[in-house]
Amino acid sequence: MGAALIRAFAGSGRDVTVWNRTHERALGLAAPHVEPVRSIGEAVAMSPLVLACLSTYDDVRASLDEIDLAGRALVNLTSGTPRGAEEMADWAAARDVDYLDGAILAFPDFIGSPDALLAYSGSRRVGDTHGALLRRLGGQSQWIGERADVANICDASVIASFYTTAITAYVEAATFALDNDVPPDVLRAATRVVLRTLGHSTKEAAAAIATGDYSTDQAKLSTYAIGTRDVLQSVRRSGVPARLLGATVESLDAACAAGHGDEGICAVAEVVRAQPDG
Ligand SMILES: NC(=O)c1ccc[n+]([C@@H]2O[C@H](COP(=O)([O-])OP(=O)(O)OC[C@H]3O[C@@H](n4cnc5c(N)ncnc54)[C@H](OP(=O)(O)O)[C@@H]3O)[C@@H](O)[C@H]2O)c1
Repeated sequence: MGAALIRAFAGSGRDVTVWNRTHERALGLAAPHVEPVRSIGEAVAMSPLVLACLSTYDDVRASLDEIDLAGRALVNLTSGTPRGAEEMADWAAARDVDYLDGAILAFPDFIGSPDALLAYSGSRRVGDTHGALLRRLGGQSQWIGERADVANICDASVIASFYTTAITAYVEAATFALDNDVPPDVLRAATRVVLRTLGHSTKEAAAAIATGDYSTDQAKLSTYAIGTRDVLQSVRRSGVPARLLGATVESLDAACAAGHGDEGICAVAEVVRAQPDG
């Protein structure tokens, strides 16, 4: 990922100083506008804006712990947890560093493209001062809040909870279909249609959850619950474990049991939120 970030900056004409603990790897990135250096202190000294992208937050802290960062802006694009981002912000504040946390919601090949999204949260000053530069890493990039943990919450929500679960559910579903003689081109065509519907549904869901208005004149939650429960039984009878479908049925049943069966499917939000008893 670091190489992709460097290429995007250098490609847009910015000078980048690169440090990697394995110096040969940094040397391999040498190019017009890219200068590899042997020590991290040297890299920081040459840069008003320090961008970190290592494996973990602990690696970032360990690498920068002895370095004088006072007066610098630090943007940390390493993946982590919301709690980790808060700890990182405290660590930076103790060193008089303006801290912006970033989450990369893209693969390396998409870095620098108009569709790539990097979410930033934390120091508004860094977001304002370096916003144009940071958007070079992805055209959809945004500063989304003052709390350092918000970027990681966005990542945890959209990538880990939604995208990863959705693609795993698709693999489960597609395996079931293809193993049972649904022709691949039929599966592809049906998938295209459903993805369009999913696009509309996610927009409606965000609005419904934000307002608490789960009313619908289309499909009731209980209709989904009955349908998916029947499908789950028949899929499982065929020997397929259908783990994600099982989890879906559990969520829908819980929402129905909580009295939301006549509302839209987004009323599941009411049983997603932490329950008073735990
Ligand atoms: N790849 C993706 O699709 C993707 C997408 C979104 C976010 N991210 C995030 O971006 C970060 C980097 O991912 P990556 O794919 O580039 O991983 P990677 O290829 O494993 O690179 C990790 C980098 O961290 C360095 N590093 C590891 N431990 C270190 C330590 N203790 N001290 C100093 N440097 C250390 C490594 O140095 P060496 O070269 O010396 O090993 C390497 O430069 C991760 O937090 C990842 O979750 C990646």
